[in-house]
Amino acid sequence: MISIKNLEFRYGDSEDPALRDITLDVESGDFLGIIGPSGAGKSTLTYAMSGVIPHHYKGDFYGSVEIGGLDTVQSSPEAIARHVGSVFQDVEGQLLASVVEDEILFGLENFGIPREEIEERIEYALSSSGISDLRCRTIASLSGGQKQKVAIASITALRPEVIVLDEPTGELDPQSSRRVFETLRELNHTYGVTVVIVEQKIMMLCEFARRMAVMEAGRIILEGPVREVLSHGERLEEAGVNIPRVAALSRRLREAGLYRGNTPIDLAEAETMMREVAADAAF
Ligand SMILES: Nc1ncnc2c1ncn2[C@@H]1O[C@H](COP(=O)(O)OP(=O)(O)OP(=O)(O)O)[C@@H](O)[C@H]1O
Ligand SMILES: [Mg+2]
Repeated sequence: MISIKNLEFRYGDSEDPALRDITLDVESGDFLGIIGPSGAGKSTLTYAMSGVIPHHYKGDFYGSVEIGGLDTVQSSPEAIARHVGSVFQDVEGQLLASVVEDEILFGLENFGIPREEIEERIEYALSSSGISDLRCRTIASLSGGQKQKVAIASITALRPEVIVLDEPTGELDPQSSRRVFETLRELNHTYGVTVVIVEQKIMMLCEFARRMAVMEAGRIILEGPVREVLSHGERLEEAGVNIPRVAALSRRLREAGLYRGNTPIDLAEAETMMREVAADAAF
């Protein structure tokens, strides 16, 4: 679905490249989480996946990015937008309408969604984001978290082939964040939407994402199934990524020679690990 080959990008006004030698394939139907410290290039990579680079931000661009078979350098932003929907880190700049329902409606009209489907799509998007009550509110009167939900709703309404989201839960409480992930999972399962999400809440990523890419200083330093990436605890800590406590615990037990099994990614698996350790210690 997305194929990035040897991508290097340097913003026009910078000396150092923000992305270096990125090669990454995202299969159709995948759910990929991107993590990494501040300044690692996560947002820049999402720009490259939605055509914002090179069409909006100018600079030196080497290598190639293909989305649904379209080369992003050779395709217009409009053509790219037919395949990818994006929620940017700066949500404010993304919302164009003055009233919530119009924001969702504009996208649907631009996408050429048939009239008779529009109402159902608006209702679905509002209710899955938990903002049905905000439908007639002006966007200017909303909080940061509510705006985030509107941006997510207007993309989910479109059900594009790929959704790229950059820290979409930054201003949301844990319950609303979970709801975002559940909506994405539903889109992924029911409509086969490919999801790429930059996210700090790593436990949430571990639960919902299938694969994970870790960035540091413009490069992807680890990439693979979530559990495999988490098993590189030392490398992740070195990069400044907080790993889930259960994964950190398994690493310490492993270092102490007390555990040799898989890296747990949730509490239930951590419990199984502790039972194994306790059973071994009994001998
Ligand atoms: N519009 C821009 N113009 C010039 N340089 C930029 C621009 N946006 C980002 N950069 C630089 O590119 C590098 C990567 O930044 P980017 O925003 O992609 O990182 P990030 O991983 O998303 O960080 P954060 O976690 O803080 O959001 C940084 O050195 C940053 O200063
Ligand atoms: Mg960012």
